[in-house]
Amino acid sequence: MNTRIQPCVTAVVGTKWGDEGKARIATYEAQNARLDMRTQGGNNAGHTIVVDGDKIGLHLIPGGIINEETTAIIGNGVAGNPKVLTEEIDVMSKYVNITSEKLIISDRSFVIMPYHIDLDGICEDERGKAKIATTNRGIGPTYSDAALRIGVRYQDLFRSRESLEGILGIAMRHHEDKLAKYGKGYSVKELYDYLMEAKENLYKWIGDPDELIAQTLYGGKKIVIEGAQADRLDLLNGDYPNCTSSQCNPSGVLSATGIGPLWVKEIVGVMKGYDSRVGNGPFPTEIFNDEVAKLIREAGHEYGTTTGRPRRVGWLDLVAVNYLRGYSALAVNHIDTIGKIGEQLGYIKVCYAYLYQGEIVHNFPSNIEVTGEVPKPLYRTFEGGWTITEKTNSYEDLPEKAKIYIGYIEEITKVPVRDIGIGPGTNDTIKRF
Ligand code: IMP
Ligand code: MG
Repeated sequence: MNTRIQPCVTAVVGTKWGDEGKARIATYEAQNARLDMRTQGGNNAGHTIVVDGDKIGLHLIPGGIINEETTAIIGNGVAGNPKVLTEEIDVMSKYVNITSEKLIISDRSFVIMPYHIDLDGICEDERGKAKIATTNRGIGPTYSDAALRIGVRYQDLFRSRESLEGILGIAMRHHEDKLAKYGKGYSVKELYDYLMEAKENLYKWIGDPDELIAQTLYGGKKIVIEGAQADRLDLLNGDYPNCTSSQCNPSGVLSATGIGPLWVKEIVGVMKGYDSRVGNGPFPTEIFNDEVAKLIREAGHEYGTTTGRPRRVGWLDLVAVNYLRGYSALAVNHIDTIGKIGEQLGYIKVCYAYLYQGEIVHNFPSNIEVTGEVPKPLYRTFEGGWTITEKTNSYEDLPEKAKIYIGYIEEITKVPVRDIGIGPGTNDTIKRF
């Protein structure tokens, strides 16, 4: 036993296909955190934070930057578009003095290059009918270049011109034929200029965060990790190929920082009272009845933050909350929304198991792409719904039916529900422990 390790990391991760409302839980957790970190994904993610009554859409900078004592870190595993980073720093500078102590962009993190965005679109086109429906932000090609070791990292902006052009030349030789086939192409000079502009805008914040992370860990101070995307979009454990290209599971969000697992204190899995998915891929509880789907989509404002796409919506799927991940607690958002839906429709359905290949299963099957069979959900139906009134301040104040619903989530997932979202505001969260 290493007694000098006192677990102090809280990871907030999505349990489904993203857009579960991680940001509000992470922002809440970050209130007393020394560090608030994004560790994987890039500006395919999106969340809204409210500062001084203004709504701000962020894709890369963790929301905890608004807290006085918190340093925001863009970690090693992030694929960051320098233009988006520059814009977000500009916007946030109206509210916070973003010194180099306030924000660190890890010098090991990867730069999204203009050709990565082209290649994202080209790859989608070449897939024909088998499109993933990516966010088209260049995320996949940035990670595949990283794996090929022809990526550009933020530290490369500080190389000599000759050295940086060498790196860009390798990348271009790899991609130029494909790009040319689609009428695209970049000179090394053009790419160098793109990076020098990024350097001019961002140099102050690029650095090695390890010393600060180590001091924080050994000082026993709180670190919040804001997972991006979500469990079923995980490259290795999710719905391949209809997934993202980073690892969004609890261990993945950690390894993308370099922080070892013994430092973790809690892993909060975030979900909603119903489900949604944007992009293609299996969604067992998807609602195809237009009227019911529309009801949920409107009540829950289910349109993409990054792309504005209407999200596919479905009943709450408790099988998709994978028990292997070992969440210490769940946060369930939109308990107000699902109650309202129940009142309007007279019922709510919750999936507790699937019928797949003629058998009842309790985990998400691995080979849906091969069998072509989407698991058939087995539902428990709850009669009616509920209304959350303004007087609801604690778990005890919740309508009885809402408590039964939450109890059922705990019974099937075997994870305690800690946070309950009952409205759109940051303060509309009931904390049970
Ligand atoms: P990519 O991450 O842009 O390559 O997209 C791959 C898949 O992940 C697509 O189905 C996207 O819709 C989905 N995706 C990526 N980021 C998010 C997110 O933040 N929320 C929800 N879905 C996402
Ligand atoms: Mg989101």
